[in-house]
Amino acid sequence: MNNGVHSTYGQITGWGSYVPVKVVTNNDLPPELETSDEWIVQRTGIRERRIAAADETTCTLSLNASREALAKAGIQPSELDLIIVATSTPDHHTPPVSSLLQHALGATDVPAFVVVTGCTGFVYALSTAYQFIHSGAYRTILVVGVELLSRFVDWTDRSMCVLFGDAAGAVVVQATDRPCGMRSFVLGSDGSQGEQIIMRGGGSARPFSQEVLDGRQHYVQMNGREVFKFATRVVGPACEQAAAKAGLTLADIDWIIPHQANLRIIQTAAKLMDFPLERFIVNIERYANTSAASIPLALTENLTSGRILPTDRLMFVSFGAGLTWGAAVVEMSPR
Ligand code: UT7
Repeated sequence: MNNGVHSTYGQITGWGSYVPVKVVTNNDLPPELETSDEWIVQRTGIRERRIAAADETTCTLSLNASREALAKAGIQPSELDLIIVATSTPDHHTPPVSSLLQHALGATDVPAFVVVTGCTGFVYALSTAYQFIHSGAYRTILVVGVELLSRFVDWTDRSMCVLFGDAAGAVVVQATDRPCGMRSFVLGSDGSQGEQIIMRGGGSARPFSQEVLDGRQHYVQMNGREVFKFATRVVGPACEQAAAKAGLTLADIDWIIPHQANLRIIQTAAKLMDFPLERFIVNIERYANTSAASIPLALTENLTSGRILPTDRLMFVSFGAGLTWGAAVVEMSPR
């Protein structure tokens, strides 16, 4: 808890991720889908995705990633001041999966809540965590991005089910007086485009019913083409605004970790931003779109491999349901 010392900065001191064991390659997809490895690779860059086992849930994926992040930070669950989980695919509508995770971790009485902003969830959740750190309210926060989309897509709809995978990523943010961590953030939302990514049934607008079931409205639907256009429009400006807010330009950024929705979106953004494609972290070919998990998953993988150095300056950028978007400049350690 807050010990009275006001600390301005928050350092990412731990990171972890988890992907289910089961790999489904494009060629493993059922023939009834009438899709092909060629179509999927050319249009999206995806070659395979991970699919959760029957006994796995959003909570168990989160638990695995969180334990790794806590171990890396050398933190016991009881030392946490707050847990924030970004997801749109929780175990249940209620109770919140954040409380399930809090209990599973053994983080007795630690406050926990969920942030629901689609694929942008991790950037929103991390920005929220930093406000608690900057204000001095809390000193040690676990932020999780997790998604189990394979249970929320229609496996008879080739325009959706080939795009997504299951994963979790987590970071521990700890208060410090040394300048580092999140240096700026940009968040946005355009609800006029809410219909572009929508689960029509099962909420207060259209409660669950036989009609919802028959209409397959309990699955997420997406207008891919419109979301693609939106994503290529917002990524560059969001990064430029976040850099400017930190008193920087894009030239000062070592790596951009974008939400992994489509390789072509990343390539288009790189061109529009005039930022080298080699400096974008890309792993969509192995995991597909893991929504709120994609940024912490890519971060963990690349910190672990040593490709991203603890001294690097990073840009996180994401977009998704809402439609929402967000970008953040993060320095892993004081410079
Ligand atoms: O993370 C949240 C944000 N989500 C995104 O950012 C997704 C953004 N959108 C996209 O990545 C792309 O729009 C998609 C990958 C979803 C689709 O690519 P596209 O190039 O926009 O294709 P399209 O939806 O315009 O469809 C082109 C054709 C259609 O056939 P017709 O009507 O031209 O005959 C589709 O029926 O491709 C067909 N198609 C497929 N064919 C084989 C759609 N899905 C498939 C498939 N396999 N899996």
